[in-house]
Amino acid sequence: MSDRITVFKGDGIGPEITDAVLRILDAAGAGLEYEIFNVGEAEYEANGALIPDEAFESFEKTRVLLKSPITTPVGKGFRSLNVMMRKKYDLYANIRPAKSNAAVKTPFENVDIVIFRENTEDLYAGVEELVDKDTAHSIKIITRKCSERIIRDAFEYAVQHGRKKVTCVHKANIMKISDGMFRDIFYEISKDYPQIESDDKIVDNVAMQLVMHPQKFDVMVMPNLYGDVLSDLTSGLIGGLGLLPSSNLGSGYAMFEAVHGSAPDIAGKGIANPTALLWSACMMLEHMGKMDCAARIRRAVDQVLNEGTATTPDIGGTAGTEDYTAAVISKL
Ligand code: NAI
Repeated sequence: MSDRITVFKGDGIGPEITDAVLRILDAAGAGLEYEIFNVGEAEYEANGALIPDEAFESFEKTRVLLKSPITTPVGKGFRSLNVMMRKKYDLYANIRPAKSNAAVKTPFENVDIVIFRENTEDLYAGVEELVDKDTAHSIKIITRKCSERIIRDAFEYAVQHGRKKVTCVHKANIMKISDGMFRDIFYEISKDYPQIESDDKIVDNVAMQLVMHPQKFDVMVMPNLYGDVLSDLTSGLIGGLGLLPSSNLGSGYAMFEAVHGSAPDIAGKGIANPTALLWSACMMLEHMGKMDCAARIRRAVDQVLNEGTATTPDIGGTAGTEDYTAAVISKL
């Protein structure tokens, strides 16, 4: 029997990379049935809702969502649907693995970092107000409950995956109460994991060290905004946003998406790299217990990247999304 999953096609490059990924999943024999929905601004203009009710109902039934990027207007318009989904379903753990691939040349080798980004609070709580016409406030929220669960997940991951160290990233020298609490909780929880090395660093120092000595970092845990910024940085270490997958996990629900956005600058040109969404789909298969299928797809991608003849322009190739997809399928 097939497992059903919910799929949001997104916009920009979303539909192109979704089609590529679903074709590869089918060719790999993933045994999935898809409930596919259009979401975002175009859907709003066509049907009056950014995310149709049936799409929410589908996710509430399947509990697994493969989500393509959605455009968010900057500085005006509707609030981010990504942030809304994370909050609505309490998808508190955003896990973003950045691992070097020998076939993708960058100035850095042997990067293997997993960022645990708290996904529901911090400045993303969206508590903003205009105090007067020249003064705006945005409130940073850090709670014990949300800090404890993401920090514990990071340590549990380290144990389960044979990792050696967990680094807490913060700015507690300035935000002594909020980030100070995050850091204190980190050290409280670290006592339950004496076999894992634990340390903490200030976020600006981390930004510098990541581009000087990325190999020093292993598992990292941090509040929402730092995780957003530093995970884009780690994608740069391994070859760019086209290669960084993520899972967003909460109690009972799981959403898998590429870290990148809808890339309007290349949308419709047939050159988007679907690898980040494909690796997100592999994380989804692993979450669903379909380990063999995920491993098969990962091997096929590695082969295509190593051969280098069917890779997309963002990682130095000349192939389009279609050629890359066909190449991966041919290796399965
Ligand atoms: P972006 O990630 O869409 O693009 C940044 C740069 O990376 C662009 O030059 C783009 O062409 C390139 N790029 C990204 N993904 C690529 C891929 N798969 N293949 C090849 N090149 C790729 O970031 P940007 O431009 O800041 O945001 C565009 C829109 O996406 C905004 O509306 C933003 O709010 C939204 N966004 C949505 C996210 C989501 O749905 N999870 C996450 C991040 C941004």
